[in-house]
Amino acid sequence: MAHPARVVRTVPALRRALAPWRRAGERIALIPTMGALHAGHLALARAARRRARRLVVSIFVNPTQFAPQEDLASYPRTFERDLAALAGVDLVWAPAVAEMYPDGFATRVVPQGAASAGLEDKFRPHFFAGVATVVAKLLIQCAPDLAMFGEKDYQQLRVVTRLAKDLDLPVKIIAVPTVREPDGLALSSRNAYLTAAERAAAPALYRALEDCAGRLRRGEALARVLDEGGAAIERAGFALDYLEARHAETLAPVAALDDGPIRLLVAARIGRTRLIDNLAV
Ligand code: PAJ
Repeated sequence: MAHPARVVRTVPALRRALAPWRRAGERIALIPTMGALHAGHLALARAARRRARRLVVSIFVNPTQFAPQEDLASYPRTFERDLAALAGVDLVWAPAVAEMYPDGFATRVVPQGAASAGLEDKFRPHFFAGVATVVAKLLIQCAPDLAMFGEKDYQQLRVVTRLAKDLDLPVKIIAVPTVREPDGLALSSRNAYLTAAERAAAPALYRALEDCAGRLRRGEALARVLDEGGAAIERAGFALDYLEARHAETLAPVAALDDGPIRLLVAARIGRTRLIDNLAV
């Protein structure tokens, strides 16, 4: 049996736990999460295990990345189950909101570039400043050698990669491929919100991405492929926020296949749940 993960809840306790590992020259990997862990998060931990001696998982439902009308209050919180899933991880960093954002907290990291690509930022205008602020804090608090991020949240991955570079943080950001259900639906903590009927419709998102990617590779025109992909998603019962083809690194708009490496990105709402996904062309 793997040992249960040790939990720390204050910055000084975190630093005390990390210090001997750092003194011993052990490579430390950080896996930032908001908990409600599923196989996608655990794939990040497995990828970290291959590269680092010590694994730190942070669990913090970050209020600053939720808009007032979003699901902060109802976001799934399953701490005890998360801990059981993390047996074998060296440390769980689980600060309270008042530890992360004490009274008087007044600094925000506001990313530009990929964070202003007109994708998630258009529908969630406060989101990436909230993410960048908390991720910068996590990276400074833990000072890991590596930090793992999922391709599932592709724009976030690009924003965080840029942030680490721009702030000269001595960390390597590692991208981990999206883990999917057998029918293609990307694992997400928010899938728990789906009714049975919505869950049955949800794989339409990934099917549309695959279909669009295949047609683009065969040389069909971008605008038509995206129009028809969007229509297929709406026929499945979604309200489409966006389906776009972007440069895979800068997220700049592209007009044709050879403007690229291209990434298709989609966001759509079904019932009260908003899902995102993406795929390389
Ligand atoms: P959360 O949604 O909990 O996701 C934590 C990490 O797991 C992110 O890097 C995300 O991309 C990755 N992940 C989620 N689902 C995945 C899947 N199906 N396959 C692969 N990776 C997956 O993303 C956040 O939390 C927060 O914004 C955070 C970065 C922790 C900042 O608060």
